[in-house]
Amino acid sequence: MLSQHTFISLVILQLWTHWIVSALAQQTFFPSAVPLAVRTPTFNCWLDTHNGSNPMTTWPTFWNDQHILGWVGYIKVDGLTYNWLGFLVAGNASTWIETQVTPTQTILTVQAGPMQLNVTFLSPIEPSDSSRQSFPFSYVYLDGTATDGKPHSVQLYSDISGEWVTNSLSTGIQWSTTKTSNTVFHQVSSTTPTSVFEDVAEDSVACHAISSRFVLNLLHWGEGFTLTSDLAGQIGNVEDSDGKFTVFAHAMDLGNTTNITSIAWAVGVVRDPIVTFSGVPWRAYCWSQYATIDDAIDAFMIDFPEARTRALALDQKILQDARAISQNYADLVSLGARQAMAGIEITLSTFQNGSFDFSDVKAFMKDVGNSQRVNPVEVIYAALPAYMYLEPNITGALLKPLLEYQNSSSYTSPFAAPDLGGPFPAVPGNPSSLNAAYGIENSGNMLILVLAHARSTGDGSLIGKYYNLLKQWADYLVSNALIPGNQYSADARDEILVQNHANVTNLALKGIIGIQAMAEVCQIMGQGADAQNYTASATSLMQSWVNLTSVSGHLRWTYDETTFGLMYNLLADKLLQLNLVPASVYTAESTTLSDNPVQGPFGFPLSSDNTSAARSDWTLFSAAAAPDNTTRDLLITAVRNHASSSVTAGTFPTLYDVQTGLVQASPNAFSSPAQGAMFSVLALNVANQTIVVPSITGGSPAGSGSDDSKVKSHTGAIVGGVIAGLAALLSVGRFFDLPAPSG
Ligand SMILES: *[C@@H]1O[C@H](CO)[C@@H](O)[C@H](O)[C@H]1NC(C)=O
Ligand SMILES: *[C@@H]1O[C@H](CO)[C@@H](O)[C@H](O)[C@H]1NC(C)=O
Ligand SMILES: *[C@@H]1O[C@H](CO)[C@@H](O)[C@H](O)[C@H]1NC(C)=O
Ligand SMILES: *[C@@H]1O[C@H](CO)[C@@H](O)[C@H](O)[C@H]1NC(C)=O
Ligand SMILES: *[C@@H]1O[C@H](CO)[C@@H](O)[C@H](O)[C@H]1NC(C)=O
Ligand SMILES: *[C@@H]1O[C@H](CO)[C@@H](O)[C@H](O)[C@H]1NC(C)=O
Ligand SMILES: *[C@@H]1O[C@H](CO)[C@@H](O)[C@H](O)[C@H]1NC(C)=O
Ligand SMILES: *[C@@H]1O[C@H](CO)[C@@H](O)[C@H](O)[C@H]1NC(C)=O
Ligand SMILES: *[C@@H]1O[C@H](CO)[C@@H](O)[C@H](O)[C@H]1NC(C)=O
Ligand SMILES: *[C@@H]1O[C@H](CO)[C@@H](O)[C@H](O)[C@H]1NC(C)=O
Ligand SMILES: *[C@@H]1O[C@H](CO)[C@@H](O)[C@H](O)[C@H]1NC(C)=O
Ligand SMILES: *[C@@H]1O[C@H](CO)[C@@H](O)[C@H](O)[C@H]1NC(C)=O
Repeated sequence: MLSQHTFISLVILQLWTHWIVSALAQQTFFPSAVPLAVRTPTFNCWLDTHNGSNPMTTWPTFWNDQHILGWVGYIKVDGLTYNWLGFLVAGNASTWIETQVTPTQTILTVQAGPMQLNVTFLSPIEPSDSSRQSFPFSYVYLDGTATDGKPHSVQLYSDISGEWVTNSLSTGIQWSTTKTSNTVFHQVSSTTPTSVFEDVAEDSVACHAISSRFVLNLLHWGEGFTLTSDLAGQIGNVEDSDGKFTVFAHAMDLGNTTNITSIAWAVGVVRDPIVTFSGVPWRAYCWSQYATIDDAIDAFMIDFPEARTRALALDQKILQDARAISQNYADLVSLGARQAMAGIEITLSTFQNGSFDFSDVKAFMKDVGNSQRVNPVEVIYAALPAYMYLEPNITGALLKPLLEYQNSSSYTSPFAAPDLGGPFPAVPGNPSSLNAAYGIENSGNMLILVLAHARSTGDGSLIGKYYNLLKQWADYLVSNALIPGNQYSADARDEILVQNHANVTNLALKGIIGIQAMAEVCQIMGQGADAQNYTASATSLMQSWVNLTSVSGHLRWTYDETTFGLMYNLLADKLLQLNLVPASVYTAESTTLSDNPVQGPFGFPLSSDNTSAARSDWTLFSAAAAPDNTTRDLLITAVRNHASSSVTAGTFPTLYDVQTGLVQASPNAFSSPAQGAMFSVLALNVANQTIVVPSITGGSPAGSGSDDSKVKSHTGAIVGGVIAGLAALLSVGRFFDLPAPSG
């Protein structure tokens, strides 16, 4: 349907494209590694660009920055060969000009002889379309123009290797090639697949696809070849091998041309099922839409022009909102967006008859870069701002398995669990009594997350279903939160962030905010007396907390010491608009930060327990909670300085040394979804929705605000930020209200 609306959209998009292009014309942001294809915990490919290393002579790697993912691109111009991706195996290196990072794309601009190329790596972010979001594929596409304006003979080549599906090069691999009506693709997998793996998924199938409209001029599309250096100058003419570096290539001849216009390949890493939970397999949501991988890849290749249009629109929306804060802030959001979304898998289970149960969408997060735990509650809390801004029902899909598990007879503790166990993809649950040491942390996090989800979506179903469980946690907090004693915050899981002192004030604060969140939950359930009770508790505990924590206009980190730290849990009070914490506390935090004596070039240490260790996620929480723009911008600039300090290696880590920028920890906190915290400032503008609690037993709804027993869909959250009129029209009408899944 080519409506007038669509026509206007296209025109506007061209303007946007132009605007983005001109705004990005000069590189100012230099991350240590840039995302190439980052969609899931196991499809997570980066290019190390640290310390000025030439991206044209570097292998892409897995997020751990260790395991090479063989992926090369070549162009032959008038008979001379240049690479545009990967370590130089044949021909000459292109001259790298610049690298740009937007929320969905990384663009390498290179000069290959007379051709200037933009090599764009597009990892779609499709927050409100679970099918597209869960399909683990990325695009890479080439635009080019002859800088001398003359036609040149051009051929293109790209391949991926067996390294995408094995950690060990001694593992055998198998492969095949499929040609459908729209697509040609290779797939490769291990001959001994196993769901026990630490890094690269050894139960996955890697795919490399190209549109079959190029088949007529494909020089060669083949499988099972090794590209060796003696093939210099020969594109696609590669030798047979079944060895460990076997590559799966596509090449094509564009003939004589002055330009290359958006020629796209797709790369993907598929695992099925994602996890087994509650005794049943949970499969990526997309398989409810496609019977076979062939169908899914076909649809993905056909969708490319539209997918790119949607990505440009989302980039434009996010960047416009973020630049209203600052360009530094826009840089952080750009680098963190794919990482936050790639931490999770959106899944469905099936009924016994094989059909999908659309009423129960669940999401599973891997604690990428850290513990490998499944649905780690403190990481969901850190990433909450990204989900609130992009699509708040993702939070609900992550909470569901946690709540379901803890409501079952397998779980008996009076406090909330830290996760569902691990290591990913195992989901054993976590009933350990040792979790008592983190009772305040996790109970507080869960109550805050449940209320944030309800407020930002209007969906009160979790509140209705798990009211008693939530109450139990709130009662635990009433008894324990003010005096945490020797309880830990989740940060102490990392030995670098060792907790040296008892009674951590920031932990107590989280617990008290959790109690007030419960008061709001009671209100939503129409339980006024309970609400008053929790409000009275929270208010009185808050007063005591203020007394114990404030010393001459500053805030301390523990009750008994001259300590200090980032009071990052203040953000929960602001995000939930509780107004529980007095304004004087925010001011005192600001003063504490500006007087902080141990600020380093890369910001503030998390606390005086280790004055060299900084956390990017909690620094951004603190920035968004700051009462004044000066403090906010100081904190943002510190994190951005590290994110753009390419001196040290690292895949956008959350933990680093404030003085040197080095990543000291092991695990190294690389590529953690916790970087969703970069959206903290944007999340403050996400609108409240009217919350509806659906009736569980078919009776009348127990909720407030509406007599409609169906959960209302939200439209406000994504446009919650600062937006121009046209952007709002387009983003809501055209790009986010996608048709309901069919079939
Ligand atoms: C960065 O590169 C320079 C020049 O090659 C080298 O001297 C320096 O040691 C490198 N720094 C790091 C942290 O790798
Ligand atoms: C590399 O560039 C040099 C200089 O232009 C040229 O002589 C040589 O043939 C090129 N090599 C390949 C493999 O294209
Ligand atoms: C490549 O991107 C730059 C901006 O970064 C733009 O000026 C140029 O026109 C693009 N080239 C092509 C061929 O699209
Ligand atoms: C490309 O141009 C060259 C000379 O300009 C010519 O020799 C060659 O045949 C042309 N190739 C094609 C495919 O048109
Ligand atoms: C791109 O190349 C094609 C084929 O060589 C040519 O027809 C077209 O005019 C060129 N487009 C531009 C913008 O130069
Ligand atoms: C703080 O920054 C926001 C967004 O950048 C701006 O709207 C607001 O006016 C600023 N506040 C002050 C007091 O400058
Ligand atoms: C499969 O089973 C579910 C649950 O029992 C039922 O709702 C659905 O209609 C069934 N689908 C088919 C195709 O039989
Ligand atoms: C979020 O809501 C949209 C409808 O607005 C739905 O299509 C999508 O599947 C939901 N996502 C999750 C994770 O529940
Ligand atoms: C208020 O809550 C406390 C526990 O937090 C409970 O012991 C008490 O019975 C409650 N009071 C009312 C009136 O519900
Ligand atoms: C925690 O603080 C309380 C109140 O100041 C104090 O009584 C208690 O001894 C402290 N706990 C520890 C383990 O230091
Ligand atoms: C807090 O301190 C003030 C002044 O020192 C005192 O009046 C008040 O009772 C204290 N409140 C609590 C809850 O301890
Ligand atoms: C959001 O909801 C809460 C609870 O109903 C309320 O206190 C707050 O003022 C609301 N905020 C807005 C902006 O409507």
